[in-house]
Amino acid sequence: MNITVIGGGYVGLVTGACFADRGHDVTIIDVDPAKVRTINEKRAPIFEPGLENLLMRTIGKNLRASLSYDSVSTSALTFICVGTPPNEDGSANLTHIESASCSIGTALQNATRYHVVVVKSTVPPGTTGTLVRPAVLISANKTENEIGFAMNPEFLREGRAIEDFMTPDRIVIGSTDVRAGDCAAEVYRSFSAPVVRTGLSAAEMIKYTSNAFLATKISFANEIGNICKELGIDVYEVMKGVGLDQRIGQQFLNAGAGFGGSCFPKDVSSLSVLAGRAGVDPKILRAVLDVNEYQPYRLVALLEKKAGNLSGKRIAVLGLAFKDNTDDVRDSRAIPVIQELLKRGARIVAFDPMAGPNMQKIFPEIEYALSAGDALKEADGCLVMTEWPEFGRIVQEFDLMAHKIVIEGRRILSWNGAEGICW
Ligand code: UGA
Repeated sequence: MNITVIGGGYVGLVTGACFADRGHDVTIIDVDPAKVRTINEKRAPIFEPGLENLLMRTIGKNLRASLSYDSVSTSALTFICVGTPPNEDGSANLTHIESASCSIGTALQNATRYHVVVVKSTVPPGTTGTLVRPAVLISANKTENEIGFAMNPEFLREGRAIEDFMTPDRIVIGSTDVRAGDCAAEVYRSFSAPVVRTGLSAAEMIKYTSNAFLATKISFANEIGNICKELGIDVYEVMKGVGLDQRIGQQFLNAGAGFGGSCFPKDVSSLSVLAGRAGVDPKILRAVLDVNEYQPYRLVALLEKKAGNLSGKRIAVLGLAFKDNTDDVRDSRAIPVIQELLKRGARIVAFDPMAGPNMQKIFPEIEYALSAGDALKEADGCLVMTEWPEFGRIVQEFDLMAHKIVIEGRRILSWNGAEGICW
């Protein structure tokens, strides 16, 4: 099928490259000329394992990036994959969704074939039906007989996005009319996952609910972890025993410094704001955010308890990305930790295998080491903030931690001299 993807960011690029790899003809549209050029040169503007291989295989054949909306009118479907960043009050900012919808509509004015606009961006329930639909139809000056609408949320994890896209647990397709839904489902014909067909708003809500539930699991594990810590119990032993109950499941019960990234914090906040506007007090969602907010301070408090006054002390912060296998520092738990350490007058030396340059934009004033070993050399104490597998090997490779205070915000070290935030 001929497909256009609006947005060459994380979701759009992975979606476009994977669809092309499955044999569809795909054009990715982005407003950033540098990004368009990079993609067309078969280079990934973001770090995602396997993505550059897909670009190598498909660019110049059935995948291309473009600044113009020309491909929309000859495509069967257009996927909206633009960002929905948080507003000041935690609600989702839909400016890019609205402008993409208007541009799609304008591009469809002279189209002669049926076209389906599919929203893939994470949006509050109601957005596809009440914002995208009228914006496209009015700009195109067409009716719903000529343009259909569907909502198809993504469930991609950074660092494993290609694998998640190619082998999904489920494919959710929301639509008000069957023809539009069928068209969107057709794109996934070669995928073997179950397809869940819903209304538009239910599909939007499935995405928010999935992220909110996963975030709830993490905050729950963290709260139990905090209790375990006080009682001298290892929460990882506890969660192993708990998670083997198939009704609970083992995933997303890893206690630690809390969840970060561009999705969980933003989506739980946005759902809370939505709940409030709907007259519902989101008690659980608020607690999920509260627990998450507090974990980084717990880590610094633990360090202070062991190391005493942190003023003038040299503290190594290992791991700056919001999780391993990415250079993304958005809402990384390392950010509040560094802020708190700076407030206490600590001298920080930070290291991350990939995310150093991105963190440098936020904290240009701290020192960045070239390796974990370098960061640890002169340090009085160390906080481990990201579960990079290579950190697990530090103890074996260097005898650097022997006389240091090491607090783990993620369970990764195989050294029992380290103290865990929840274990
Ligand atoms: C998350 C979801 O997992 C995806 O399904 C979803 O599509 C995506 O958001 C999105 O909305 O686009 P992602 O943010 O890439 O994906 O990362 P996760 O692997 O879910 O991790 C999020 C955060 O939770 C990380 O900071 C991670 O360290 C933390 N986490 C995860 C824990 O603290 N404990 C766990 O057990 C699991």
